[in-house]
Amino acid sequence: MNLFLPLIIFGILILITGLLILLDYVLGGSSQKTITINGDTQIVVYGDDTVLSTLAQNKVFIPSACGGKATCGTCKFRLVGDVPGVKPTEQPFLSPKEVEDGVRLSCQQKVTENMQIALPSQLLSARDFETVVEVVEDLTYDIKLIRFKLIEPSTVDFKPGQFMQIKVPGIDVVRAYSLASNPSEKSYVEMMIRYVPNGQATTFVHKALEVGDKITLTGPFGDFFLQENSDKPIICIAGGSGKAPIRSILFRLKELGMNRKVKYFFGARAVRDLYYTEEFNQLSKEFPNFEYIPALSEPLEEDHWKGATGLITDVLDRMVGDLSNHEAYLCGSPGMINACINVLNKHDIKQENVYYDKFS
Ligand SMILES: Cc1cc2nc3c(=O)[nH]c(=O)nc-3n(C[C@H](O)[C@H](O)[C@H](O)COP(=O)(O)OP(=O)(O)OC[C@H]3O[C@@H](n4cnc5c(N)ncnc54)[C@H](O)[C@@H]3O)c2cc1C
Ligand code: FES
Repeated sequence: MNLFLPLIIFGILILITGLLILLDYVLGGSSQKTITINGDTQIVVYGDDTVLSTLAQNKVFIPSACGGKATCGTCKFRLVGDVPGVKPTEQPFLSPKEVEDGVRLSCQQKVTENMQIALPSQLLSARDFETVVEVVEDLTYDIKLIRFKLIEPSTVDFKPGQFMQIKVPGIDVVRAYSLASNPSEKSYVEMMIRYVPNGQATTFVHKALEVGDKITLTGPFGDFFLQENSDKPIICIAGGSGKAPIRSILFRLKELGMNRKVKYFFGARAVRDLYYTEEFNQLSKEFPNFEYIPALSEPLEEDHWKGATGLITDVLDRMVGDLSNHEAYLCGSPGMINACINVLNKHDIKQENVYYDKFS
């Protein structure tokens, strides 16, 4: 065998790589481009990374609950002017109206040329927060409460119901978690995180995260939050860790004097899945307007359960009347939310009064 053959192959590979880099440069991949946001802010960028990463590198944060895997649909943005076609990965998350309006997923669209984009102004105020973990507490066998003390900046303003993202240190994973704390407590935020077997972020939180760890959070994000200008009676529905944003909403309603009637349905399997029961029972003693209805779908014999039993959808159906003047806040798995919305519709709730966050 020719002794020089490996060297020749290596040389050819180097040459091809160089040619590809040159081609990329000539075709614009590495050339300068601008992203214009809302007609004024201009960002100069190089390379052809995704819109999501490019904006994040420039401290403009679009929420990205799945970290860019095209499974959450939270990273929407709107293109102005020339709009490319929809990618198959984007299709499931965009309504025909959104497609027509130029809405796309920022984790799927690349910055290949100058772009004009529109973002809600609230997104421009989302930012990174350096925090230190102050409390790690078991709420159930698979849900932990984590309190993050804010270091830089040292305070945060958020609306009850909104979420922030955790950057898992050491691996390139970003996940969304609703804020469970009182929005008036500005020096820390709390999250309730349910363990997902083999889940990257939740395995880190449940197996490795400790008091004193430094964690970066980004946000706050989300258009799921308490409508404070309304006086409509409220139905809250949660399952699992969906209790988090509802707890924050209830903190706020309590501060406002709990003037609106609130019925809070919490769906769980058995007693071991219930938590903060005392906190919510106490609230209903203090405020006759507030009613807490935990419902168990599979109570165990040893639970000696005397409360509501059945699927949360059935319990809801049994315990509400006409909802045409109500507002509803739902949080939990997509399946639970879809099924509960069907029941709310049956009771004549108006679509514009239904707010939800699907923990997908
Ligand atoms: C707006 C928003 C708010 C959220 N708030 C909360 C919150 O307050 N508390 C909370 O615990 N979670 C919340 N989530 C879900 C959270 O963002 C993560 O998706 C979840 O914790 C799983 O992350 P992971 O990295 O551990 O799992 P991944 O590594 O992403 O997933 C591992 C595997 O588990 C599956 N999987 C992912 N999530 C679930 C799930 N929930 N149940 C069953 N299987 C799953 C995936 O399909 C995958 O196969 C929220 C999501 C959104 C979009
Ligand atoms: S970040 Fe989840 S779909 Fe884009």
